[in-house]
Amino acid sequence: MNASVTVNSAEASANTNGASLLQVSDLHTSFSVQAGEVKAVRGVSFSLDQGKTLGVVGESGSGKTVLARSIMRLNLGDNVNTSGSAVFEGKELLASTMSEMQTLWGNEVAMVFQDPMTSLNPLVKVGRQVTEHVRHHLGASKAEAKALAIDLLKEVRIPEPESRLNAYPHELSGGMRQRICIAIALACEPTLLFADEPTTALDVTVQHQILNLLNREQQERHMAMILITHDLGVVAGRTDEIMVMYAGNVVEQAPTAALFADMQHPYTEALLRSIPRTTQRSHTRLAAIAGRPPDLIDPPSGCAFSPRCPYVQPKCREETPPLQATDNSGHKSACWFPVGTPENKEAFEKNLAARLPQTMSVAEGAMVNTEMLQEKAATQEERN
Ligand SMILES: Nc1ncnc2c1ncn2[C@@H]1O[C@H](COP(=O)(O)OP(=O)(O)OP(=O)(O)O)[C@@H](O)[C@H]1O
Ligand code: SF4
Ligand SMILES: [Mg+2]
Repeated sequence: MNASVTVNSAEASANTNGASLLQVSDLHTSFSVQAGEVKAVRGVSFSLDQGKTLGVVGESGSGKTVLARSIMRLNLGDNVNTSGSAVFEGKELLASTMSEMQTLWGNEVAMVFQDPMTSLNPLVKVGRQVTEHVRHHLGASKAEAKALAIDLLKEVRIPEPESRLNAYPHELSGGMRQRICIAIALACEPTLLFADEPTTALDVTVQHQILNLLNREQQERHMAMILITHDLGVVAGRTDEIMVMYAGNVVEQAPTAALFADMQHPYTEALLRSIPRTTQRSHTRLAAIAGRPPDLIDPPSGCAFSPRCPYVQPKCREETPPLQATDNSGHKSACWFPVGTPENKEAFEKNLAARLPQTMSVAEGAMVNTEMLQEKAATQEERN
């Protein structure tokens, strides 16, 4: 059960001087398995201010959940190695003891997990699960906890909350169960909420309701939120900033409107291109991109996206592009031949002439469906 954690103290002390609610620096997490070291998170840095929402997007296996669980210190096991720094409200989480973390979980930082069934006990009525949480964290009496639980269930729009408290999780729909998990997460008024694919396996209407609910709660409570999702439609309208992850790294990071106005990384472009060009306006799950995500035990040298990138050049396979600022807006990307530059165009023409397979979908005119995302991002900006 003893995960190894190494704190980068130079980064940590630099971070405590900052004003952000959460500052993550050079975070790495790997898992030792029989075949080698799975490098799931490979040097992620970002900061998040109070009341803001950060969207984390990437294909399956890109390291989104491991990143969230590393900050929460929820990757347990003696094969886990974490290093770097994660400072929350001036406190280095990676140097905190498990008992300090337990005080933080639910009180200051909460998480809505990908699958509500894994976080709810199927054998215990939901009422007890909500009230026990409230009693444990707030020290409320049984009666106070029950009243609070009913209020919370009303807040997350669960009809007939008193009778629902007597239900077992399997007696509720997927949407109801996810609302219960959100109620539990909100119970102690966290300052920071991780929502890890909170709408997976729910139908589109329920997805909308749950995401609207999370957004409303986030705004009313001035809570910071890290919204992890595959769905660019979700992050476009509901986040202040977006971080695109590939193979455990951040490849592009920008304020939401800036990202959709001027995407720079070929992987972000591929994610956008994979949204079908239909009248479907939102919540479109990302289609697979040609090729496969890399082996994280032995990732490709240079740029990890190089085997799938339509613009790849020899330099990409030799040198890892650093994540660097491209303007003064906070837009950063990690690419030697960014989308929209003359160098990118030239690289594409060379690859097309060489009939590189990954150039085909681009050449066939698979349009990048940015319009509706730009519209959504603009709506979010207006709300701010
Ligand atoms: N306990 C573990 N032991 C070994 N490898 C692991 C472990 N947990 C995660 N991984 C690996 O780490 C990588 C990142 O996983 P992660 O769950 O963070 O992906 P993700 O981006 O959240 O994907 P998804 O969208 O499918 O949820 C994957 O290759 C995964 O197989
Ligand atoms: S152009 Fe090169 S550096 Fe940029 S994403 Fe493609 S392979 Fe990576
Ligand atoms: Mg995940």
